[in-house]
Amino acid sequence: MTMTDTTSATPTRIATKRTVLMCRPDYFTVSYRINPWMHPEAPTDTSLAVTQWEVLYNTYLELGFDVQLIDPIPGLPDMVYAANGGFVIDNIAYGASFTYPERQPEGPAYMDWFCSQGFDVRVPENVNEGEGDFLLVGGVILAGTGFRSASDSHAEVARIYGREVVSLELINPSFYHLDTAVAVLDDSNIAYLPSAFTEEGNRVLRELFPDAIIVNEEDAAVLGLNSFSDGYNVVIASRAKDFERQLRERGYNPIGVDLSELLLGGGGVKCCTLELRR
Ligand code: ARG
Repeated sequence: MTMTDTTSATPTRIATKRTVLMCRPDYFTVSYRINPWMHPEAPTDTSLAVTQWEVLYNTYLELGFDVQLIDPIPGLPDMVYAANGGFVIDNIAYGASFTYPERQPEGPAYMDWFCSQGFDVRVPENVNEGEGDFLLVGGVILAGTGFRSASDSHAEVARIYGREVVSLELINPSFYHLDTAVAVLDDSNIAYLPSAFTEEGNRVLRELFPDAIIVNEEDAAVLGLNSFSDGYNVVIASRAKDFERQLRERGYNPIGVDLSELLLGGGGVKCCTLELRR
């Protein structure tokens, strides 16, 4: 490669320290079914869930993240999926209002925590499941709808944050939250699964992110897209091998973790992670 050959050069990626909120899966189990991944009749292993979750937690600590913890509440097995607890930018915490009654008590629990930490809490007027369906990419907010968050919540978020919100409709029940079908890699790059979106959604995504990584069905089916990036290090499902290869090719540092037990609830790395932006 010559000095002038800039087209094929791998870009330099820059890690930025992240602050995240997590919730230990002390009460994790699958006792109801609100997505196709969940099979309440099959057994779950709570202690294995905790062990796997601790690997993710320790990975974040090793990456130098500030990891905050919210106390898990008995009877709220999905509380481990902290991404759904709200959406936090500019010190403003937009609270969650869950679709299904089984998870509704989590909304106030997370809002209480945000309040106790000095965030400016906004009680939501519309059904929304926090960072499960709202993803910040640079200055733009990508917003999912179709299964969980109501499209009215997109307008509410645009009003609260005064930022551009791009609505995307999800069409595959297995990819019911935006963070199961889109991975944010840094301020201008994403990865996604085209088949999870309508034709219109695909058109919008192609236009906004012509260089996006396209993830295959196999990797998406282990929730490979449900990952968390600091701009350089990308924590992903260890089984998402092709995604891992593509990340490496683009100059990112993929770090695989196995959250197989939490996958039984329909969640992965990102679901367990809520970014806190002061
Ligand atoms: N069982 C949970 C639900 O269906 C999983 C949530 C996954 N969270 C996420 N951010 N995708 O609500």
